[in-house]
Amino acid sequence: MKSGPRRWAIGVCCSALVVFLLTFVGPKGSSSDLQPVEGVAAQSSRSEFHSDQLHPRGGWLSAAQTSEPLLQHEAPARKKLLAVVGVQTGFTTNREDPTYNYEARRKVLRATWFPANQSALDRFEASTKILLTFVLGRSEDAAAEEGVQIESEDHGGFMRLPVQEAYLSLTNKTLLFLKQTIATYEADFVVKVDDDVYLRLDRLPAAIGQWSKRGSDYIGCMKNGEIYTSAQYRWYEPQHQLLGGGHYFTHAWGPVYVLSWRIAREVTRLNPSSLRYFNNEDVTVGGWMLALNSRHDDERRLCEPSCTDTAIAVYDYPRCAGLCDPIKSMKAMWNSTACQLPALPGAGQTLPELPPIFKFEHQAG
Ligand SMILES: *[C@@H]1O[C@H](CO)[C@@H](O)[C@H](O)[C@H]1NC(C)=O
Ligand SMILES: *[C@@H]1O[C@H](CO)[C@@H](O)[C@H](O)[C@H]1NC(C)=O
Ligand SMILES: *[C@@H]1O[C@H](CO)[C@@H](O)[C@H](O)[C@H]1NC(C)=O
Repeated sequence: MKSGPRRWAIGVCCSALVVFLLTFVGPKGSSSDLQPVEGVAAQSSRSEFHSDQLHPRGGWLSAAQTSEPLLQHEAPARKKLLAVVGVQTGFTTNREDPTYNYEARRKVLRATWFPANQSALDRFEASTKILLTFVLGRSEDAAAEEGVQIESEDHGGFMRLPVQEAYLSLTNKTLLFLKQTIATYEADFVVKVDDDVYLRLDRLPAAIGQWSKRGSDYIGCMKNGEIYTSAQYRWYEPQHQLLGGGHYFTHAWGPVYVLSWRIAREVTRLNPSSLRYFNNEDVTVGGWMLALNSRHDDERRLCEPSCTDTAIAVYDYPRCAGLCDPIKSMKAMWNSTACQLPALPGAGQTLPELPPIFKFEHQAG
């Protein structure tokens, strides 16, 4: 953590939380093969929701309120979400060290941008067609498992995956998250976001409309940072020789990225043991995106260092791969004037965009 390169590399590689948005609207037949996760079906048909009940902040933009057309064509008679947002979290390993107190992170999220309990989550989903969930693997520590069990009963909003929580299994966790999401829901995008990122949920519907229109498959703040060839660095890449040079291929920063449903489904159709795994999750996912010929979209609104009128995701970019001190900053941000800017600059206006740093060649078709 002392060296400059290492700190920089944290940004490059640390992808504990990613958001996947699924965009592609495939002409689908029946949805009966997809079993919604408990409660989803019932929630989506609720109509008595008033956005101001949802959260003290209130005012979620529904798809209908945004000026962007959300879908190229309608998928009739299929209950479909705009996005599944998986907030990647972990087990508390050290209660005293806020960096590793994931329970405290979830608590502060529930006090800020993440709906506080299952009924708030249900109402949010019914009004926005965005499903939010914490995503968590398994622990061998019975007490840790029990703690999460209680938290889950109290607040809801957990997707549990059959994978041991550990840094080196993050890629497997992402893959399982995609698999479970694809098997359970039907949406336009999958958002993978870390639990130390401030998300402007109220801007997601408008952003999703823009990504749909662009036909994006892989949306995030793109980078192509230095490859660490020495084992003394945390982000060391043992397979560096395969990559052909000093820099990685272009891929999205790990703290938050979005995948179209189409590309997420493609990934989950492949045999996991046939895929290439690099040391870091964000690099690995970027490699799959390259192989699958996805449409990359450099979305700088997903890594803004402060709440601006364009920010969708905010963290201490590029200093940390998340908020450096999430427990403190999340609360302060939530109550700051900047983070309370309206979702859109004015009635009937579109969500302002930022110019990309990486301009990709438009792929035909
Ligand atoms: C759920 O959270 C909301 C605030 O977001 C609160 O008003 C409501 O009382 C909570 N419901 C339960 C059952 O705790
Ligand atoms: C991740 O999954 C791959 C493919 O199934 C497997 O070979 C590998 O051992 C797993 N890695 C970890 C750290 O569990
Ligand atoms: C934000 O400010 C309100 C009013 O002062 C306070 O009640 C609330 O606890 C604050 N929220 C957070 C997350 O600090």
